[in-house]
Amino acid sequence: EDNRRESLMVVSAFAAKFFQESLLETAEGQNIGLSYFKERGFREDIIRKFELGYSPDNWDAFSTAAIKQNYQQEFLLESGLSVKRDNGTLYDRYRGRVMFPIHSFTGRVVGFGGRTLKNDKSVPKYVNSPESEIYHKSSILYGLYFAKKAIRETDNCYLVEGYADVISVYQAGIENVVASSGTSLTVEQIRLIGRSTKNITILYDGDAAGIKAALRGLDLILEEGLNVKVVTFPDGHDPDSFVRKVGTAAFKTYIDQHQKDFILYKTSTLLKDAGNDPIKKAEVIREIVESIAKIPDSIKASVFVKECSLLLQMDERSLLTELNKMRLAKS
Ligand code: UTP
Ligand code: MN
Ligand code: MN
Ligand code: MN
Ligand code: MN
Repeated sequence: EDNRRESLMVVSAFAAKFFQESLLETAEGQNIGLSYFKERGFREDIIRKFELGYSPDNWDAFSTAAIKQNYQQEFLLESGLSVKRDNGTLYDRYRGRVMFPIHSFTGRVVGFGGRTLKNDKSVPKYVNSPESEIYHKSSILYGLYFAKKAIRETDNCYLVEGYADVISVYQAGIENVVASSGTSLTVEQIRLIGRSTKNITILYDGDAAGIKAALRGLDLILEEGLNVKVVTFPDGHDPDSFVRKVGTAAFKTYIDQHQKDFILYKTSTLLKDAGNDPIKKAEVIREIVESIAKIPDSIKASVFVKECSLLLQMDERSLLTELNKMRLAKS
């Protein structure tokens, strides 16, 4: 209930402050965490704005500090900040990681993502908060609190995969950016964006997983009645690595020049594998019509049918017939 939620938020705020102070004001945090962020090109004002932090490389530095401040074990455990040993004592979930606090729509810390600094495949790259009464990962978008004003002003929302992508893109002056971070995009997340804009531009990683996620996300966005565009990045880049490589100005130009509506995106992505094979080409067309069939607004849908027919040199009427069949099958 409300008291429990409030207690969880208070302990999360304490943790964010603890991690931030450990990043900015301890030798270990400065030498390891802050220098890591600086190497990644994160500016200090952005580090402060997003309340980035560092969890000491120690079994119980945080838990001990929290208990000393009289935070209750129950909330330390439910928030996932602490874990209980068999003997009843607590240890820290995040150790020796750089910390990304996750804010609610109103700016309160409700969870964390902690990135390892080790280059070791046997440790998870990110450790995230478990589900709790204040942290439902399917309905949270990382960065939304900082992005919401710019989303309204620009009437568009850039959707990226990861924490670092949000930071780098925001720092480049594109402030209308959020991440689904780790989960594949959910309907709740899309509706959350939909309160501020009907336009989403997907900027997912240029790897196979990112492309698959973009294709899936795109259909979900269309189904919710929102407009979607997609930008792909070259050779395995993600928005963070790409903006660092080419710089802010070129990054913005790239986005403007490479954003594709979903028909163009699907066509170029799927036709790459189809080559000249007519059967494969027919499958691509079917997949595109399937996406169009998800659009609730039938006028919008018919505009896309026209684009599809021009692009793929298909008779518009047969596309419409197919579209109507799919719509009937759905209802
Ligand atoms: P990526 O593997 O693309 O990481 O995962 P990244 O964001 O580019 O991270 P850097 O640049 O190496 O620091 C994208 C997102 O998926 C979630 C995180 O939210 C991450 O930002 N993720 C990834 C996890 O939750 N756990 C993982 O082990 C890996
Ligand atoms: Mn709830
Ligand atoms: Mn990736
Ligand atoms: Mn990535
Ligand atoms: Mn990355």
